[in-house]
Amino acid sequence: MSETIVIRSATLDDGTRSDILIRDGVVAELAPSISSAGATTISADGLLALPGLVDLHTHLREPGFEQSETVLTGSRAAAIGGFTAVHAMANTSPVADNAGVVEQVQSLGETAGYVTVRPVGAVTLGLEGRALSEIGAMAGSRARVRVFSDDGRCVSDALLMRRALEYVATFGGVIAQHSQEPRLTENAQMNEGTLSGQLGLAGWPAVAEEAIIARDVLLAEHVGARLHVCHLSTAGAVEVVRWAKARGIDVTAEVTPHHLLLTEQLASGYDSRYKVNPPLRRDEDVAAVRAGLADGTIDIVATDHAPHPVEAKDCEWEAAAFGMVGLESALSVVQASVVDTGMLDWADVARVFSRVPARIGGLAGYDRGIAVGAPAELTLYDPAASRLFGLDSLRGKGINSPYLSTRLPGRVITTIHGGYPTVLDGELVDVTTVAEHSGAQHG
Ligand code: DOR
Repeated sequence: MSETIVIRSATLDDGTRSDILIRDGVVAELAPSISSAGATTISADGLLALPGLVDLHTHLREPGFEQSETVLTGSRAAAIGGFTAVHAMANTSPVADNAGVVEQVQSLGETAGYVTVRPVGAVTLGLEGRALSEIGAMAGSRARVRVFSDDGRCVSDALLMRRALEYVATFGGVIAQHSQEPRLTENAQMNEGTLSGQLGLAGWPAVAEEAIIARDVLLAEHVGARLHVCHLSTAGAVEVVRWAKARGIDVTAEVTPHHLLLTEQLASGYDSRYKVNPPLRRDEDVAAVRAGLADGTIDIVATDHAPHPVEAKDCEWEAAAFGMVGLESALSVVQASVVDTGMLDWADVARVFSRVPARIGGLAGYDRGIAVGAPAELTLYDPAASRLFGLDSLRGKGINSPYLSTRLPGRVITTIHGGYPTVLDGELVDVTTVAEHSGAQHG
């Protein structure tokens, strides 16, 4: 059985009003008024229709850290946040450094059915930074891995980084680097500056990020490969990427919603919900990453959704784990930081949070946006809504959100993945029944 859906009166990201006909998992028609005989009708009056969000940087924790998150719970958090695809980082246990683990993650995603789960492969065996992982086997596996990253750790050995770049260039893959010079950040706890001195916390200097990005763009140029910079966070890093792009180097960069909105001042209360890697930076860094996203120096937004068990965060700052959950709040935080401030419009958001991350991740079809013949992956969003973000806003296992008890703009009303709703009226749909009825799995 396949479902035909007509979405009525949606506002597309270019501001035009349209009905959207979905049939057999693809967008079949876009027109001001589509006849809906026999179709399920979803009203989108006053709602924005965005292409389904694509996250290039998600920690789903399975296998190995299921007390933090599973592929199923993380997929639900993604769907409620308006995502239809996520890229699952490799720092699991066992590490996703071989074909078996990436195929397992891919299968878990298909069974969960809420979003397309694309595994990211580790660059080095065991994330240990000593030898290359089974990159070719992962690329050639059923999971067809295209993005490789040791995220959480930096590939700090320049020769290994060079070899990894050379290898993935042979099949159009990309190395997504966590840019953190390890010696400059030993025991680092927060952004290095006056505030870290006052708080007595060891500093994570901007130069530790910028030096690695500078090295890597030069390596990418030298070997003719693609580099992706994970969670760029400093004004200097924006300058380095801007310089590299002007030189024609094949580099893309991402910024997280939290680095677009929050600053290091939040560390003042030693509330470890604000402990993240790279750390929250200064006001001038936030201004620079916003400007970099607006002028195209930074290509995409990516969440770095990093769930942790309560006990890993509910402790003193220095003992707490790095990371924040982000899937459920991401679109609202993007709206607050760069849309409501007039720096990006919704067409820009569709580009930086769906079409370009899909292109970087090699997700065929997802890079077309809402277009006739494109996969039916979309989200209906109410930008005029406002909500008190609370525990009831979360659907993953992690409650380590920096936004709990704060008011955020906007709300995801409906998410459609593979032609079926995964979220309706702001609530998750039980997609297992959909999969049973359709005889097919999402994904
Ligand atoms: O804060 C972070 N948490 N940054 C990372 O790079 C890794 C992530 C994690 O895995 O918890």
